[in-house]
Amino acid sequence: MTTLKDREGFKNLPPLAGVADFEQAASPGLSVQECVARHKRYHYGLQRVWKTCLARLTAEPIYEIKMGLSHHAHLVAEHIGTIRARVAEMRHPPLGLDAVPDPHLEHCFDEILNAPTTYALIVGLYGKAMPAILEGMRHHLESTNLLVDSPSVRILKHAMAEIEGMIAWGESAGAALKVDASEELVAEVAVWLGELDGCLAAAGGLDGTLEIDTERVSELPAPRYSAGEFVYDSDPQRDERFQDPYNMGVHAEVFLHDDHFADRDKVLMMYYRRLREIDVPEMMASILYEMVQAKGDEESRRYPWKFHQEMTRQLWDEARHAMMGEVGFAKLGIDWAKLVRINFTWSKGLNEQLTPKERHAVLWYIEQGQMGKTGKRYEWEVGRDSGDHFAELIQDYDWADEVLHARVGRDWYVEGFEDVAEAAAYGTKCWDKVVSGWEEWKREGLTEHYNWWPDLYAEACRLRGETPDEDTAAYKASYAETRADLKRISGASG
Ligand SMILES: [Fe+2]
Ligand SMILES: [Fe+2]
Ligand SMILES: [Fe+2]
Repeated sequence: MTTLKDREGFKNLPPLAGVADFEQAASPGLSVQECVARHKRYHYGLQRVWKTCLARLTAEPIYEIKMGLSHHAHLVAEHIGTIRARVAEMRHPPLGLDAVPDPHLEHCFDEILNAPTTYALIVGLYGKAMPAILEGMRHHLESTNLLVDSPSVRILKHAMAEIEGMIAWGESAGAALKVDASEELVAEVAVWLGELDGCLAAAGGLDGTLEIDTERVSELPAPRYSAGEFVYDSDPQRDERFQDPYNMGVHAEVFLHDDHFADRDKVLMMYYRRLREIDVPEMMASILYEMVQAKGDEESRRYPWKFHQEMTRQLWDEARHAMMGEVGFAKLGIDWAKLVRINFTWSKGLNEQLTPKERHAVLWYIEQGQMGKTGKRYEWEVGRDSGDHFAELIQDYDWADEVLHARVGRDWYVEGFEDVAEAAAYGTKCWDKVVSGWEEWKREGLTEHYNWWPDLYAEACRLRGETPDEDTAAYKASYAETRADLKRISGASG
């Protein structure tokens, strides 16, 4: 006799659209109520991971970690979006997505947010929090009815594949950071990780389905790192490869728009401009954190989730652009850390001197300014005519991404003004407000604004086996008096 499990479709065709066999599809599964309750817990976990990535990436000095947190903030934001949509399909509002499902979970995530070192942050986030979310989702696939709950199965499978990738990155990053960590720190973190395990166990796992040993875990453990309120640090930090971070000695845009110079040489300036975009995630994270998270859940409800999701996508694009520049230099065999000075003056100035709304205004103003013929199209043309196919490729995508960002800015920033002209006037006014301490930094000994271009150019020529052009080698315009959009005063990103 055929069992339910072996039951075939008509003419031995695979049954049930391949989502399950009959035995599985006839199983009791999870009720809608249980399904929604579990989704809310995944949502809580992912929200906390997303907030932690944003809250920590600006002041994180190590570039690779900053890039990883930018990527994962985006991936997690996308999954938060799909889970919110799934809950909204199954329940009428209010959906209760802001509720904390368990104080032990809250404690666990508070501890990770406050982790005092990069090493602790990474092993806590990727060694405990993410695996707990993954495990919860795995339980869901094991317990739910694959036919009736197929929309959840689909989104969870996608989320799990990406969470596995993030965990793998985190494991490698944690192992690399451990090498430089002191024995005391490693020992302390090991105890702390055990405490996090205790919190997760006390909550019945991230999804709340594991049996709780009530004798062992009735009370919250004493906070190790989260005794005080989390203090957000918007001051951008960089690792030692970013020497001379106040240097504004080479004006890339003047060079880029000067007909005397060759497209191949302009590519070097474009790679510099791309890598310098590392300052945009540093600044955008502060908008997202200070405009919304710092104000608490009440304020964050005023912004639809789509705002956060789109802004986080843009943040990741900016990080990607930085890495495109990094790869461009690597491809040419140029050691950028030695030959190029990637400053942080833009993100530092905006984060210190402007409100989140003013920062958003400057960001949109710069991006909409790139939409004309002399902006992103021009950079792509330089790439195309340079003979460097990689430069053409990255400028193609940089352009497409920046078009998307101008649209995101229109939807979330310009929307608050009468018209585009008023939004633009406010944007440029805010940018002018940022005091660039060109002279002052020099006086204080923070930088000499050393002109690094001749050395970079000489190295590029050496690698090409060519004699440098005298005029090109003598280029020396700085940001002393001109903004990056060629307006007089100050300097910025693109
Ligand atoms: Fe860009
Ligand atoms: Fe952008
Ligand atoms: Fe950008």
